[in-house]
Amino acid sequence: MKALILSGGKGTRLRPMTHTTAKQLIPVANKPILYFVLEQVRGAGITDIGIIISPETGEAIKETVGDGSRWRAAVTYILQDRPAGLAHAVKTARDFLGDEDFLMFLGDNLIQGGVAGLVNEFKSSQADALIQLKKVKDPRQFGVAVLDENNRVTRLVEKPKEPPSDLALVGIYLFRAAVHEAIDRIKPSWRDELEITDAIQELVSSGAKVQANVLQGWWLDTGKKDDILEANRVVLDEYAKLQIDGEVDEQSAVVGRVEIGAGSRVVNSIVRGPAVIGSNVRVVNSFIGPYTAVSDGSLLENVSLEHSVVLANCRLQNVGQRIEDSLIGCNSKVCCLPAGRQALRLFLGDDAEVVI
Ligand code: TTP
Repeated sequence: MKALILSGGKGTRLRPMTHTTAKQLIPVANKPILYFVLEQVRGAGITDIGIIISPETGEAIKETVGDGSRWRAAVTYILQDRPAGLAHAVKTARDFLGDEDFLMFLGDNLIQGGVAGLVNEFKSSQADALIQLKKVKDPRQFGVAVLDENNRVTRLVEKPKEPPSDLALVGIYLFRAAVHEAIDRIKPSWRDELEITDAIQELVSSGAKVQANVLQGWWLDTGKKDDILEANRVVLDEYAKLQIDGEVDEQSAVVGRVEIGAGSRVVNSIVRGPAVIGSNVRVVNSFIGPYTAVSDGSLLENVSLEHSVVLANCRLQNVGQRIEDSLIGCNSKVCCLPAGRQALRLFLGDDAEVVI
């Protein structure tokens, strides 16, 4: 069995971050989301992995992931010339996939417990496709499935105004080669994309057996800023451990599950877990609260930071108010004007957002 990870796309909902970064490389608990996906694919025993990349961010993905040897897997990169939909990505990967069964995994999605169970269920079944679903409160923004009493899919609808069920499609699918013919038969949707939902509906309509598995654990789709913060919270909650490789001075307190990387120094500060601080970070006279991840090389001085993700080489200094629920891109600076100046001086990239 092969795997196809989708790491192309536009990432418009994560601008300005995605002007310079692939969204699949944004770190959650200081690790690129794509690394979690690769671990989960590899955890299901799959070693032949294709990664769909876009012309804009493909090189960054290649540089970060390399040849896959880090996961004892072989990675093949497949360039999708434009973000023309999930089924278009499968079509682009046709040569790589051949006629083999495959696991398709969106490079910005994560589920609790990995996909080994799902892959085994598919291997031992007669189904033509197996899709992962999750019960959600508001299904209107997702692909939605209707099942019979044996978990067989009878109908699929993309972003329905009146959802026929509360079962949303999570970005994880298992297919046999029949899906390629189904993709050849579908037409682009109103948003001019070849939709994987339409291809699966086409399988269902042609009498193929499409089974579903309903996920009990968490599902994280990291498409927007608040999704990244939520993913960071959930992953830190589950995986953070106490590991201090840096230095913490006598005036500081580290409370709970906190990871501090090599070369980092915590001076006269409190760090309350679950939290991760990368390597070569300086934390001075500050409070780092729960559910916070600070990437390598940043400086935090006289700040209070909570429930936030700070990427590499940032400077956060002398900020009077607490910084919370924030996602701060690489090399950013946040600081205060000298006392008494009631003004803001901003130098923001396109699509930036400031809430005061
Ligand atoms: P989406 O989040 O649906 O789309 P997007 O990445 O373009 O983001 P936005 O809606 O904010 O503009 O994509 C889900 C995943 O699939 C994501 O990892 C990107 C990937 N993808 C492709 O590889 N090729 C495609 O043509 C599309 C649409 C998405």
